[in-house]
Amino acid sequence: MRHFLTLRDFSRDAILEMIALAIKIKAEAKRREFIPYLENQTLAMIFEKSSTRTRVSFEVGIYQLGGVGLFLSRNDLQLGRGEPMKDTARVISRMCDMVMIRTFEQSTLEEFAAYSQVPVINGLTNEYHPVQLMADYLTMVEFGKDRDPVVAYVGDGNNMAHSWLMLASKLGFTLRIATPKGYEPQERVVADALEFARESGATIELLHDPREAVVGADVVTTDTWISMGQEEEREQRLRDFQGFMVDSDLMALAKEDAIFLHCLPAYRGYEVSEELFEAHAEEIFTEAENRLHAQKGIMVWLDRQRS
Ligand code: CP
Ligand code: NVA
Repeated sequence: MRHFLTLRDFSRDAILEMIALAIKIKAEAKRREFIPYLENQTLAMIFEKSSTRTRVSFEVGIYQLGGVGLFLSRNDLQLGRGEPMKDTARVISRMCDMVMIRTFEQSTLEEFAAYSQVPVINGLTNEYHPVQLMADYLTMVEFGKDRDPVVAYVGDGNNMAHSWLMLASKLGFTLRIATPKGYEPQERVVADALEFARESGATIELLHDPREAVVGADVVTTDTWISMGQEEEREQRLRDFQGFMVDSDLMALAKEDAIFLHCLPAYRGYEVSEELFEAHAEEIFTEAENRLHAQKGIMVWLDRQRS
């Protein structure tokens, strides 16, 4: 049995297998062919943070695969009154076939997985957002940006930056990350990425100048400057991220046919300008839709790994 906690745990081949499944299942769904790959299976979805895309895509996804999703928010569970995560894991995994969790610490997710009898999927932690990156890569494939791309990530060295580091270093492409000083990705994650890059041939560059990152890029991406749980740092962060907005001037340095991705929600006038966002809305909302298809690929792949 495998869990899906971070892309760190997967080989290039496994990632590409999940993407290939996602492409196949997306094509079937576009023909309104909903094959019950996970017939009668139940997906528990535990949320300790807000969500629009993750909740809707997992709930619709499991339904279209022939199963059913259970939306479980922290405050509705005994978890909110202090029941330990490891007990919650042992109860839920005896009744459900798969579990998705959105929580704060990666260690909370790992603890759940350690006590779970069924596959556990990371629906976002402070450290990683791997299901988002699978959707992002599927979008890159669809827009023809999967052959030796140069990806520029501009902004906070957060869960999205960490997940880009894992994807690039596993698949072997060029990733440039530009953050303000003091907001770099965690050293431990960078060290892992550099180690994987030695094997895959990926190029990883950590910069502090957005222009240097974006010049000649095939894909430009960013994320909010204030992630969930960081609301109290808002004023400081708004000051520190000055000059890091992705706008048309910055994007003009990328390749002429470069795409712009954003995991959403987007905060116009901060990490992205309204004009740039709307000019690339087709890519951004295809990326959002691809959450549904990519996660179906992940769930079906995980189901096939059960021993
Ligand atoms: N991108 C993403 O995970 O969106 P939600 O927070 O709405 O789920
Ligand atoms: N970095 C953001 C991503 C939201 C999908 C957060 O963690 O809030």
